Amino acid sequence: MEQQFIDSEILKPQTPIIEFRGVSKTYPGGTHALEDVNIKINKGEFVFVVGSSGAGKSTFMKLIMREEKANTGIIRVNGFNLTEMKRKYVPMLRRTMGIVFQDFRLIPTMNVFQNVAFAMYVVGATGRDVRREVSKALSKVGLGNKARSMPNQLSGGEQQRVGLARALVNSPDLIIADEPTGNVDPNMSYEIVNMLTEINKQGTTVLMVTHDHNLVRDFHHRVIMLDGGKIVADNAGGDL
Ligand SMILES: Nc1ncnc2c1ncn2[C@@H]1O[C@H](COP(=O)(O)OP(=O)(O)OP(=O)(O)O)[C@@H](O)[C@H]1O
Ligand SMILES: [Mg+2]
Repeated sequence: MEQQFIDSEILKPQTPIIEFRGVSKTYPGGTHALEDVNIKINKGEFVFVVGSSGAGKSTFMKLIMREEKANTGIIRVNGFNLTEMKRKYVPMLRRTMGIVFQDFRLIPTMNVFQNVAFAMYVVGATGRDVRREVSKALSKVGLGNKARSMPNQLSGGEQQRVGLARALVNSPDLIIADEPTGNVDPNMSYEIVNMLTEINKQGTTVLMVTHDHNLVRDFHHRVIMLDGGKIVADNAGGDL
């Protein structure tokens, strides 16, 4: 029985959760933010996206969330064809992903519990499910005892962990994080990437932009490097 399970795991074809084919993005005004990007990211991968300022990292993430549209090429995310998809399907796409922001974006008038619960209410969840899932998400990020705190009573690292709980609470297939450690101290950065790594081990695909070379060196994840809107390096080992 066990043998059978292992074999089928090995034989299981790798399924891309994100696929870019010949994708270019030029902003109004003429900046070529991405040029002919081709990439596949499989389900269950953890990928760091690195590169200098202006390289196109945030644009890459925004295309995946369909916050921006590509000018040319094909983008597939989680079974959605983003190039042909009508705007009305964007909420369905977003439901499959958890988004973590550099500046946390918590609602200042809501406590920690309410901030995370809100992410569930907006997708139609109610009552008991919300209480159970919010508690689970908060304990995953080590904030079970801070449910009633207000955002302004938390450290930057704690606020970001609320952001992480909010991204997790709807059990997304994919977590998108654009510099999630950009506003927290180095120790907390490690904590956050540790948590993302744990979440990844349970099957969630993680895509994270960072400028922090230490994180990239110490966590051995795939690294995609952008420069001038092109992918200039892509390795599975973690060292660039
Ligand atoms: N909304 C926009 N309108 C016009 N140009 C833009 C817009 N957003 C980004 N750009 C330009 O596109 C290029 C890529 O920007 P992007 O934000 O993707 O870079 P980045 O790699 O995320 O940089 P950083 O590390 O500073 O966050 C830059 O030249 C930027 O000025
Ligand atoms: Mg950016």
